Amino acid sequence: GKGKWKGIDDKDLLISYNALKVLEARYLLKNPETLRYVETPQMMFRRVASYLAGVEREKRKEIEEKFYDIMSTLRFVPNTPALMNSGTRLGILSACFVLPVKDSMTTQNGDGIYDTLRAMALVHQQGGGTGFDFSELRPKGDVVASTAGVASGPVSFMKIFDVSTDVVKQGGKRRGANMGVMHVWHADIEDFIRSKTGDLKDVQLQNFNISVGVYDYFMEAVMKEEQVPLITPRKTKIKGTDHEYYIVKARNYMREDWVQEEILRELEERGPVYLDESKIITVDEALAIAESEGAIIRWVNARNLFQQIVKGAWDSGDPGLLFIDEINRRHPVWYLGKIQATNPCGEEPLLSWESCNLGSLNLELFVKEKNGKPYIDWEDLTNVIKYAVRFLDNVVDANRYPLPQIEQATKMTRKVGLGVMGLARALIKLGIPYDSVDAIYVSYNLAKFIYYQAMKASIELAKEKGSFPAYDPVRYKDIWESAKEFEDILAISEVKGEPSDYAKAIMAEAAKIDISELKDLRMRYGLRNATVVSVAPTGTISIIAGTSSSIEPLFALAFIRNVAVGKFMEIDPLFLEYLRKYELDTPEVIKKIAESGEVGDNPFVPKTIRRLFRTAHEVEPMYHVLHQAAWQQWNDSGTSKTINLRSEETEETVGKVYLTAWRLGIKGITVYRDKSKSQQVIYFGLKK
Ligand code: CDP
Repeated sequence: GKGKWKGIDDKDLLISYNALKVLEARYLLKNPETLRYVETPQMMFRRVASYLAGVEREKRKEIEEKFYDIMSTLRFVPNTPALMNSGTRLGILSACFVLPVKDSMTTQNGDGIYDTLRAMALVHQQGGGTGFDFSELRPKGDVVASTAGVASGPVSFMKIFDVSTDVVKQGGKRRGANMGVMHVWHADIEDFIRSKTGDLKDVQLQNFNISVGVYDYFMEAVMKEEQVPLITPRKTKIKGTDHEYYIVKARNYMREDWVQEEILRELEERGPVYLDESKIITVDEALAIAESEGAIIRWVNARNLFQQIVKGAWDSGDPGLLFIDEINRRHPVWYLGKIQATNPCGEEPLLSWESCNLGSLNLELFVKEKNGKPYIDWEDLTNVIKYAVRFLDNVVDANRYPLPQIEQATKMTRKVGLGVMGLARALIKLGIPYDSVDAIYVSYNLAKFIYYQAMKASIELAKEKGSFPAYDPVRYKDIWESAKEFEDILAISEVKGEPSDYAKAIMAEAAKIDISELKDLRMRYGLRNATVVSVAPTGTISIIAGTSSSIEPLFALAFIRNVAVGKFMEIDPLFLEYLRKYELDTPEVIKKIAESGEVGDNPFVPKTIRRLFRTAHEVEPMYHVLHQAAWQQWNDSGTSKTINLRSEETEETVGKVYLTAWRLGIKGITVYRDKSKSQQVIYFGLKK
């Protein structure tokens, strides 16, 4: 109770036992000599708030209080590096980085293979995660002119990055995470696809998530079972990694209206142009040239290649897919260049050298109750978003960047990523099952509301502090213009149904937003951040906040959690609350549930509870995909999601998930089939 414990802040009582374990293991500062803690959780939030308010010119104290308030009540929590490093000697506050890898040992620009290796080490040391596109590296067996030797290929270089990641271990606080991307046209693509599955599963590239960068032309070729060429990037300008190929591809492979002449002109101005500047060549001409240059190594059946990807993903979760066209089509500052890769978990497609800092809203805490009826407190949500965006924007300035290129690229666009956690619990509190049309409707409209408010907050900041330097009001692309309608999403997924009146009433506030206002506002006042939202996995911060992670369904109602500091057995407290309501919190019932992690069809438990508490593996794969699609529509960066599959799901399911994701306009997709790897972070239930 209040004032009862002298020196203990009431808000510390919000911190759960597991949260405290995580915080004490890695977040709370210690005296380096005595190893005694020098702060409590509230002191940590205070340290972060004060550090981030420090960049304000005016009203510093008032803003610090706001920052402290939204964090200490766990309504908003910034990403791990900001919590760990604010106000300390380590200066990185961002979780996401993308680094370029050029086909050279070192370069003047510092983007050769070993330059990048060094950059990665610096980022990992301070707790950031890195993504790379390895497609510019010449394939295995290709010539190395300077030494008359033979190239070892991108996958061998990735192994070096992997070992370095192991060695650095992120400042001793957090294991490094990487995303390795290879585009589907690369001659070594089959090696890449195999690099983490089959015999190599649990063995190779353990610090990497890998994704194949695919294009619309490839996905179409998969459906038509057509042949596609595999190319060596060294010998030709027809390659997917630079402007030349982009122009060729834009002109030929894609005929969608977003490929306006402006884009082509813009790209042409930036770099070397494919062959003859004045000549627009056809696919066949381009391929004929590539062939004459000896750049086409061979042709493969696209369906067959896709099947290899699907098989790998079914077997081990890797590779995932990145939809490169979709990523670039919906990149608001497309005029700065082409995005080739994302950060480790996919929520941040970034240009080379860009970094992004994240933070997430705890949705569970915005579901409140009046007269026994749940509702969403839109006003509170709006207010928290406003300060959360301000907080994240300040991170861009408060960051101490490990390399000048990173600082420069990041400050050009000032990308920030406001995300969410606790969706599953918010839905339960609303009485809406995760795998229902109503839940997708809630996701879709929440995403829209949050995007809208975050954009407004960023516009307000521009009014006060100026726009991001690369802001061009005319060329900036409003991503909401290409958001799919809710009905279209359902239609594409072939899920039938309509939102209920109950769901419509709950979301009425969001549904009435006039999103087109944003354009007038940003034209008038500018925009502070090139991107404003992003859905991160919230792996640790959701534990700190004591809620379900990201937009994922509940993992299990009881489970053992394996974290760096040990094993925990957990029973979901919200579930326990429901059992109590029905006087079902008896040892027999709980024990039975704890054995499997699920309620399944446990006859003790009423149907309503069973329906509401379906866990990740009970939810049909398509509902996982639908939630991701709903959030992606109103997201100017990426949506991280794991499509969790039951152990017995087939390759066919994986193939369907991957194809549907592409049709739904998702930017990247990953599946994970239960027990498909020897090590997984969470084990379901006690017996399994
Ligand atoms: O919850 P927390 O802020 O710790 O992180 P998250 O939302 O689970 O992950 C966000 C991003 O942090 C990831 O996509 C990675 O870029 C980075 N990350 C990392 O570098 N190393 C880890 N062990 C975990 C996350």
